[in-house]
Amino acid sequence: MQPHPPEPFRIKMTEPIRLISPQDRQEAMQKAGYNLFALKAEDVYIDLLTDSGTGAMSQHQWAAILEGDESYAGARSYYRLQQTMQEIFGFEYFVPTHQGRAAENILSSILVKPGAIIPSNMHFDTTDANIRARGGDPENCVIQEAFIAQSTNPFKGNMDIDKLETLIQKTGPENVPFGCITITNNAGGGQPVSLQNIRETSQIYHKYHIPFFIDCCRYAENCYFIKTREPGYEKKSLLEIANEIFQTADGAFMSAKKDAIVNIGGFLAVRDAELFQKISNELILREGFITYGGLAGRDLDAMAVGLREGLDDEYLAYRIGQTAYFGNRLLENGIPIIEPAGGHAIYVDAGSFLAHIPHSEFPGQALAATLYLEGGIRGVEIGSVMFAHPDPQSGEMIYPQMELVRLALPRRVYTQSHLDYVVEIFKKVGQHRQDIHGYRILYEPQFLRHFTAKFTPLA
Ligand code: F0G
Repeated sequence: MQPHPPEPFRIKMTEPIRLISPQDRQEAMQKAGYNLFALKAEDVYIDLLTDSGTGAMSQHQWAAILEGDESYAGARSYYRLQQTMQEIFGFEYFVPTHQGRAAENILSSILVKPGAIIPSNMHFDTTDANIRARGGDPENCVIQEAFIAQSTNPFKGNMDIDKLETLIQKTGPENVPFGCITITNNAGGGQPVSLQNIRETSQIYHKYHIPFFIDCCRYAENCYFIKTREPGYEKKSLLEIANEIFQTADGAFMSAKKDAIVNIGGFLAVRDAELFQKISNELILREGFITYGGLAGRDLDAMAVGLREGLDDEYLAYRIGQTAYFGNRLLENGIPIIEPAGGHAIYVDAGSFLAHIPHSEFPGQALAATLYLEGGIRGVEIGSVMFAHPDPQSGEMIYPQMELVRLALPRRVYTQSHLDYVVEIFKKVGQHRQDIHGYRILYEPQFLRHFTAKFTPLA
C-alpha cells in the first residue's frame, strides 16, 4: 500500500484537541438534536466536517495579513489579489466576496428567473439552494458512473455531454440563463473533471449561446488530477492547466475557503462588462464596495498568497496523497467508499455499509452520528437529509442515488496518526453495524435543512 506522504512543512503552532468521554458525547448529541452541525467544536476530537475555511495558513499568508491595506476603496490588497487572479484565472473582471455562496447569490439574483433551468455536472447544496430560492431549477447531468461507488473511472466528475445537450434542447436555450460545471465534483465524491470534458461542456453551452460558469472551489486539486491522470498533460505545469481550464469559460465563482487555503473569502469573475456592472451594483447593495466585497483588506492578501500555495506541485502531491492513503486504509478494512479517492475528502458509502436502514431513515445520518458517539469524529451526511425533496407535481419523495458520509480533510491540519485513529474507529463500528438504527426528523427549515434540522433516534 502507498504510504502516507511526508508533509512538505513542519508545525510551528499547535491547537489542542481532546476526546471527551462517551457519556459526555452522548449528552452533547442529545442536546444537539443529533445534528452534528449543532455540536460545540470543542466537543469534537477529529473534525472532518468540512475542508472549507478549516485549513492551516502558512507563515507567508500570516505575514501577508500584516501587510493588509484596509482602505475602503482601491486598497493595495485588492490589486495584489487582482494580479494573482489574472495569472491563474485570466477573467477580465472580478469582485471579491465573503465566501462562495455570496457569489452564487449575486449571480442567481441577476440571472435566474422563475422557471429557468441551470445545468451542471452536480450543483453543490448552496448553489442548488440559491438557484431554487430565485425560482430556478438546478439540474444535474453528471455521468452515470458517478453513482457507481466501485467504478474507478479516473474522471467520475465528468458531465454527460449528451444528457446536457438533450436537457438544453428540451428546455429551450432561452430558458437556460447560464450553465455550470463544478470542479472537483463535491456532491459526487470530490471527483475530478477532465480537461477534455470541460472543453466539450463549454462547446455545448456556447453552441446554444449560454454563458458557461465554473464553480472552481477545488480547481487546483482538479488540475493535479488532470496532470496525473489525463494523457497529454503530464508535462504541463499546473498553472498552464488552470489557464487552459478557465479559457473555456465566461465566468467562475469560487469559495476561496477551499483551494486558496484561507479561513474566509471567495470571488465572482466574469468576462462580460455589462454583467460585471450588474454584479458590482448588487455587491455594493449587499456585501461591500467592489475592491473588498465584504472582506477585510488583509483577507484579500491571505487569499492572494493562498491561491499560489494551493496550486503548488509539492503541496498537491502531499494533499492528494494523504486523501488516497486514508481511502486505501478504509478500503483495506472493508469500509465501502467512493473509489477512487477524491481530492478533498473520502466519501463512505453509508447506503451499502448500513444496507438495513432505508433512505427514509437516513443511513448517512445514522453513520455520521455513530462515528461521533463512538470516537468523537465529525463527518457530514451527503444523502437524503441534504438532498431528498418532494416531487413538485406528485408530492412523492425523491431520494438521491447515494447515501454518503463525507470525511473532509482540512488542508495541512491532520497527520497520519489522526487518520489512523479514524480507521480504528471505523473497524469498531463495522463490528456492530447491524445494531445501528435510523433517525426521524423532528424539525426542518425550508432550505438547506441539514444545517439546522433536529432528529430523534428510531430505537
Ligand atoms: N460550491 C462548492 C462545490 C462547495 O463545496 C461549496 C462549499 C460552495 C460552493 C459554497 O461555498 O461555503 O464558501 O459559501 N462547500 C463547503 C463544504 C461548505 O463543506 O463542502 P461557501
